[in-house]
Amino acid sequence: MYSELNKRVVLVTGGASGLGWATAQAFAGEGALVAIADLEGGPAQRAADQLGAQHIGIACDVSDEQAVDDMVRQVVESLGGVDVVVNSAGIPDAFRPTVEQDVAQFRKLVDVHLTGTYMVSRAAAAHMLRQRRGVVLNVSSIAGVLGLTPRNAYSAAKAGISMLTRTMGCEWISQGVRVNAVAPGYMMTPFLQKLVDEGKLDQERIFRRTPAGRFGTARNIADAMLFLASDSAEFITGVTLPVDGGYMAWGAAADACQLQ
Ligand SMILES: NC(=O)c1ccc[n+]([C@@H]2O[C@H](COP(=O)([O-])OP(=O)(O)OC[C@H]3O[C@@H](n4cnc5c(N)ncnc54)[C@H](O)[C@@H]3O)[C@@H](O)[C@H]2O)c1
Repeated sequence: MYSELNKRVVLVTGGASGLGWATAQAFAGEGALVAIADLEGGPAQRAADQLGAQHIGIACDVSDEQAVDDMVRQVVESLGGVDVVVNSAGIPDAFRPTVEQDVAQFRKLVDVHLTGTYMVSRAAAAHMLRQRRGVVLNVSSIAGVLGLTPRNAYSAAKAGISMLTRTMGCEWISQGVRVNAVAPGYMMTPFLQKLVDEGKLDQERIFRRTPAGRFGTARNIADAMLFLASDSAEFITGVTLPVDGGYMAWGAAADACQLQ
């Protein structure tokens, strides 16, 4: 579909599961060389093996600066560069009222989501700016725009990712590097399934609040990522694109959807 992505080197953090995994598969389907970076080396390598022998899996905690720099260096050495980064590594928050939260958990959320996105983007952009070509793709959330209590650490980190997307997107576009984000609504992945199973999210209420009346799929995010990485998006930078079945567009004081 996007022939310009053929043989491009695409680094996907959090690529062993969920949205990252679907995105890794989509880029591999376009002929890209994919590096999957995830917390544990085993799942990262297994995911890469599933894509084919030309792809690689690397263990990396995106909240560890040295590990991030080493990982990006390894991608460049092994695959010959880095053209696209997808920052999809992430963890769910505690769903606790603010006064019951602990600071360590708050910091952890910000470290993984916001600082991790910053550090991976910074390390990869150093190469992209030298070659005057590259795309950074981040994962924000409806939680980064709307007030979803009591998810304040997660929401603040996601809002920060959208602002990081704007600032980096403006800083680098004249040098050939674009930065954009997607803001997923509720997409069915292991991350979301766990929150539903633990009773932290109510599936039926979400369906009623979503104009599309259902969860999105990981492939919906992957398709948006392909477009944003492609030449079709060459004049798009600094945006956070909602991929949410209309969730953020809805504002009326009524259900957004009648369930059958
Ligand atoms: N699924 C949704 O509905 C939804 C909605 C909005 C935003 N998001 C965001 O999308 C991203 C991906 O979520 P998902 O649903 O695919 O979850 P997931 O749990 O299926 O996948 C997340 C991956 O990130 C990895 N990871 C976690 N911490 C890491 C770290 N420190 N370093 C490297 N890798 C790490 C995990 O091992 C896992 O493989 C997250 O940032 C999440 O906040 C998801």
